[in-house]
Amino acid sequence: MNPIKVPFFCPDLGEQEVAEVVATLRSGWLTTGPRTRRFEQEFAAAVGAAHAIAVSSCTAALHLALEALGLRSGQGVLVPTMTFAATAAVVRYLGAVPLLVDCDPITANMDMRDAERRLAPLRRGDLNFDPETPIVGMMPVHVGGMMMDVAAVKEFAACHRLWIVEDAAHAFPAAWRPGPLHPWQRGGQQTATISCFSFYANKTITTGEGGMAITEDSGLAERMRSMSLHGLSHDAWGRYSGGGSWDYQIMAPGYKYNLTDVAAAMGVHQLQRAEEMRRRREAVALRYKQRLADVAEVETPPVDSNRIHSWHLFPLRLRTDLLTISRNAFKEELQQEGVATSVHWRPLHLHPYYRETFAWQPNDFPVATSLWERSISLPIFSRMTDEQVDHVIDSVKRLCSRHRQTKTLRSQPAANGKFEIPKVKAETRPIFKMPMSKT
Ligand SMILES: Cc1ncc(COP(=O)(O)O)c(C=O)c1O
Repeated sequence: MNPIKVPFFCPDLGEQEVAEVVATLRSGWLTTGPRTRRFEQEFAAAVGAAHAIAVSSCTAALHLALEALGLRSGQGVLVPTMTFAATAAVVRYLGAVPLLVDCDPITANMDMRDAERRLAPLRRGDLNFDPETPIVGMMPVHVGGMMMDVAAVKEFAACHRLWIVEDAAHAFPAAWRPGPLHPWQRGGQQTATISCFSFYANKTITTGEGGMAITEDSGLAERMRSMSLHGLSHDAWGRYSGGGSWDYQIMAPGYKYNLTDVAAAMGVHQLQRAEEMRRRREAVALRYKQRLADVAEVETPPVDSNRIHSWHLFPLRLRTDLLTISRNAFKEELQQEGVATSVHWRPLHLHPYYRETFAWQPNDFPVATSLWERSISLPIFSRMTDEQVDHVIDSVKRLCSRHRQTKTLRSQPAANGKFEIPKVKAETRPIFKMPMSKT
């Protein structure tokens, strides 16, 4: 096997992150403290939100969000089947039911028309759920960092009286607007009741492991903050940093989800470079799109002039009807070329736990079932060199020409032709005002 020439992801940590971590280690305060507070304030300012609670992962943020909203056993939440394990797992943590929704064939985001279609049979009792299951919320995911139509999500939620917990694990920095004459709205800037971000090692900004919950609601913020640290009335920094009372009280049996200052030390500097790193990922994405535009065997992800895309992922879609090779074999051959790739994702309904617990069948979510079988995520990260990008492109092109269907077969209509991506012109501009360096 060839050595890996292009890893799937490589974090972009500068000397400032290193120096801040070292300073934290030397400071004598490692756990949640002044750097975490600074990270929260600066992140809230960057997205334009009132409250930010830094936690140990996006999964923790999602769990705290649902708990604060009072989700209980027997209730239901609309969750896209095209997402990572965490989005639905947190619903199950609280004994509630994730009612899965199919995805849009172009963006892979939750299909709002399908969400509407799912509610009627549920209420008639035609699904494998108790028709009395009250649907109380929805959890849109901005797949890969391409934001959903937030107005459509909000309208749907208002119509069905649902709260919105936005899984924005991929969506920082990202923004949307309804049209060119409207102002930009950043992900987390009142785009949901609570928005949850991830700082996992391969995310757009990283603290190794980490997450953030954002909300405008001070009551929800207070509950999440307390529940992130054992349900205590105030944290250790508040107790020991002078002025705070030693006498905390347990308000509820909470979790242990607080972010450490060691992690936040990375976060404050990653935040300052977030837009710069996004721009480099965007340049990589546009180079992929431009140089793969004439390769009939692949489809590249859409761009939209009304979105600022974080470009966390670049999911290529194979036209398997035009190739003699499966997605898995294609992925394997890319590996042989020294290109590491990933797949986002096997949809939830095709995992044993969800299949067995809720009896979902592949045909219940036809778009996601078909999409995942031909999806392959190419490397995209801010430290990627043009040579690495070109090596990926050349490898994809080489594999396509090596495994191209013969002319006779190619003349047949594409079974999945409806997934063609329309050509849209990209236009992005920096709207994120990142905090200036304070060191
Ligand atoms: C869509 C989505 N939601 C949630 C998560 C969980 O993030 P974390 O690892 O920070 O808990 C991920 C992680 O990759 C994700 O892709």
